[in-house]
Amino acid sequence: MSAAIETEGLTKDFSVGFWRPRPYRALDHLTLKVEAGEVFGFLGPNGAGKSTTLKLLMQLLYPTSGEARILGRPAGDAAVRQRVGFLAENPYYYDYLTAEELLAYFARLFGFRGADVDTRVARVLDEVGIGKERRLRLRRFSKGMTQRVGLAQALLNDPEVLFLDEPMSGLDPLGRRHVRDLILGLRAKGCTVFFSSHILSDAETLCSRVGVLVQGKLVASGPLSEILAFELKGWEVVVACGPQLHAELATFARTVTPLSDGHVLLHLAPDAEPDRVVGELTRRGAHIVSINPVRETLEDYFVQVVGATAGRDTSGAGA
Ligand SMILES: Nc1ncnc2c1ncn2[C@@H]1O[C@H](COP(=O)(O)OP(=O)(O)O)[C@@H](O)[C@H]1O
Ligand SMILES: [Mg+2]
Repeated sequence: MSAAIETEGLTKDFSVGFWRPRPYRALDHLTLKVEAGEVFGFLGPNGAGKSTTLKLLMQLLYPTSGEARILGRPAGDAAVRQRVGFLAENPYYYDYLTAEELLAYFARLFGFRGADVDTRVARVLDEVGIGKERRLRLRRFSKGMTQRVGLAQALLNDPEVLFLDEPMSGLDPLGRRHVRDLILGLRAKGCTVFFSSHILSDAETLCSRVGVLVQGKLVASGPLSEILAFELKGWEVVVACGPQLHAELATFARTVTPLSDGHVLLHLAPDAEPDRVVGELTRRGAHIVSINPVRETLEDYFVQVVGATAGRDTSGAGA
């Protein structure tokens, strides 16, 4: 079986500059594969080339070179479009239609007719959590509500593969949670989801694998656990103990921080053998409240990779 999404050397040059046009490479030989049923996070800072990639996959843009395939067929193939959903970044819709009217319009574009249109529209509006607002004109919608309409539109045809460009942007924490749960629900149904984000915590809860794009180049890809696994930064141990033990704690830990609830937070070095330390502390009468490994977060990783890549090449970036 072929992958759900596959790109091979996908490259896009834009022509920038009015008087002396010159090519600017927004995407540089992107090769990646997303298997059916995966939730893939396509991560990178602003300007990395994420939206360009999605537009190439949707054939809203044509590549300078390279190929993209969706469900085993060339991207843009009419038969594939029927099986794909797409939410653009910052979607914008006709102000004077209601959410219901807009979605009915899209449903008819997909070829649905009669009662099926109304049933589908009602279902996707429920799915994205738009209630009675569905009868309001879209110009009265906030950014977050518009984003939900966009999501509803992307779900109309029960897509097998869903492409979402920054689906969480503009949403408040509740809206974010809602979108996250929606994606998890889709994953449970076997839908392949490819979403871009510059917000790393979105990926941490959702993705089986991620790709990190920086200045048009894929700098890492794989399961988050593998990308981040190499960095154990230490251990955090919270203990409850009498004041007589406080002075001794410093011999076990790199830092000792009293907490407001009377407990004490210890930071241990990565090689500190937490079992041994916990054993020693318990023997001396301390009570262990919690112990956690401190891992490199995706945020740390991101800052590090972007830092290393920035400054290496900024030519042509003045678009
Ligand atoms: N139509 C265009 N013409 C010229 N440059 C563009 C065009 N679209 C995007 N770019 C440039 O390509 C780079 C990648 O943009 P984009 O794919 O939107 O990044 P992201 O979605 O990761 O923020 C940016 O430097 C952007 O300015
Ligand atoms: Mg973008």
